Amino acid sequence: MSSNPARVKIAPSLLSANFARIAEQIRAVEEAGADWLHLDVMDGHFVPNLTWGPKIIADLRPLTRLPFDCHLMIDAPERYLRDYREAGADSITVHWEACRHASRTIQQIKETGARAGISINPATTVASLDELLDDVDLILVMSVNPGFGGQRFIPRSLEKVRQLRVRLEERGLDCAVEVDGGVGAENAAALVMAGADILVMGSSIFAAPDPGAALREMRGLLECVR
Ligand code: DX5
Ligand code: ZN
Repeated sequence: MSSNPARVKIAPSLLSANFARIAEQIRAVEEAGADWLHLDVMDGHFVPNLTWGPKIIADLRPLTRLPFDCHLMIDAPERYLRDYREAGADSITVHWEACRHASRTIQQIKETGARAGISINPATTVASLDELLDDVDLILVMSVNPGFGGQRFIPRSLEKVRQLRVRLEERGLDCAVEVDGGVGAENAAALVMAGADILVMGSSIFAAPDPGAALREMRGLLECVR
């Protein structure tokens, strides 16, 4: 069980939202008690899909008070950190696999004033992050291969969350553990028990007929865990 007693955060991912009704969809999850809004930035290179850049994030910014959790699935992300911060990102998470000098990139994120996160793909071990644990504010464990919403959760990810929590506790580090990909009612409680602090949910919220109701239902389910 995680040693962090704080309430788990739910971060709906706009990847699965309907952009023709985006203001309404954001309002629905905010009113239902979302903690962060997760924004997936894809470059068609690091991942085989494209989404949006800083302009859209800046346009979304006035629609909500929720913190913006920007997940950059782009190669050489150090080129754009300032742009995403200026667009309104509160957290900026880069991929370990996309950084040539991950330690420097984390430092650069911190210099923008944003919370600094590092993410690992399913094929990357938790041990790869050992030299970065002291420097990051959050670690994002990908529980699917990044690029698309609606994929199946990779069960092995649960063990990675556990391993990460143990390492952080051994070193007395206050770093948030976030999980992204295939998270829903069938695995959310187990992820929190394994040590996750933040759950990203795309299709399990926005593919539901009523995203606000889906989020409230998820919150109810998790209240019993922590
Ligand atoms: C996938 C993205 C996720 C995506 C998750 O590469 O990083 O944030 O929105 O979607 P679901 O929850 O549907 O797996
Ligand atoms: Zn994401």
